[in-house]
Amino acid sequence: MPRGEEGRLVSPEPDGDEFVAEAALRPGTLGEFIGQAGLKEHLEIAIQAARGRSEALDHVLFYGPPGLGKTTLAHILARELGVGLRPTSGPAIERPGDLAAILTNLSPGDVLFIDEIHRLSHQVEEVLYPAMEDFAIDVVLGKGPSARTLRLDLPRFTLVGATTRAGALTGPLRDRFGIVERLEFYTEDELGAIVRRAAAILGVSLDAAGAVEVARRGRGTARVANRLLRRLRDFAQVRADGVITPDVAERGCRLLQVDARGLDRTDRRIMRAIAENYGGGPVGLGTLAAATGEEEGTIEDVVEPYLIQLGFLQRTPRGRVLTARGYAHLGLAPPAPSSAAEVSPRPLPLL
Ligand SMILES: Nc1ncnc2c1ncn2[C@@H]1O[C@H](COP(=O)(O)OP(=O)(O)OP(=O)(O)O)[C@@H](O)[C@H]1O
Ligand SMILES: [Mg+2]
Repeated sequence: MPRGEEGRLVSPEPDGDEFVAEAALRPGTLGEFIGQAGLKEHLEIAIQAARGRSEALDHVLFYGPPGLGKTTLAHILARELGVGLRPTSGPAIERPGDLAAILTNLSPGDVLFIDEIHRLSHQVEEVLYPAMEDFAIDVVLGKGPSARTLRLDLPRFTLVGATTRAGALTGPLRDRFGIVERLEFYTEDELGAIVRRAAAILGVSLDAAGAVEVARRGRGTARVANRLLRRLRDFAQVRADGVITPDVAERGCRLLQVDARGLDRTDRRIMRAIAENYGGGPVGLGTLAAATGEEEGTIEDVVEPYLIQLGFLQRTPRGRVLTARGYAHLGLAPPAPSSAAEVSPRPLPLL
């Protein structure tokens, strides 16, 4: 994912210097990976079967909101399979030749990890299709009338793709993945376990009730919860006796302007705009972006998924709607039922 918005503590996207901090917290095995039970079981079976047959694992697509563990799982897969990992990303592969160079350098069984795979260009995708399906690429030699096509065989490899926008993937690409898994937001219990694990690794003093408070504000997102933990560690050290208790977590979050559900000023500004400028909606994404000065992509990929998860916001065919719960969270009264009845009850799927 691109860098998180500058200074936004609860953005699920990584900050500029966060990659090092995250690498230290990355679970190395499926056993250490907390939550996502169904997905983990599917992968365990697929890994064991592939290993048993000494074959490369089927191509895997992970999709879901940022910060839930897609990159982590790609690393875990390679490690559990005992193969090499070649990481790259959609925007980094500019030309078909770039992809051809990567593919021809893979060793048998390797995992090729393409992050932000929805951002591959059409020409690059064309090279990827036969590579995924037939483990071969067609290379054009020479130019003009004397040009010839040469088919190069590739080693059997596993493509692991990750995306926050499964809907932006072309049908033919999506269809070439044998295993397609959606990552879900973590429950508060799971996030509690994630921050306790991170605290143990980082040597942070966090009591059990403190972990609950951090988890509650973690937006269902491992990255956000771990980041809050690091910031609260600083707060506990400077403004308290070093231990993250519920009181310290609460005071620290207040200072950081993160509320009891993990929402920050950006979330609240967007919710308020729908309530105060558009009577609770429906309001179109473009209008909302213009009214709040946020980018459409940020609202759609970063802000909305968690507001929807909380039941504060709905995506309907006619636009975004603030729910009664959303109003309650802002401490505002919802509009009269007659106007709410106009709202289409059909929410659109997340992706
Ligand atoms: N299940 C988990 N248990 C423990 N830590 C986790 C888990 N999932 C993610 N993390 C931690 O959260 C951080 C973010 O995870 P990761 O980078 O894999 O997210 P991502 O889905 O790839 O995000 P993006 O869409 O931004 O690329 C990492 O530090 C990772 O170690
Ligand atoms: Mg990632």
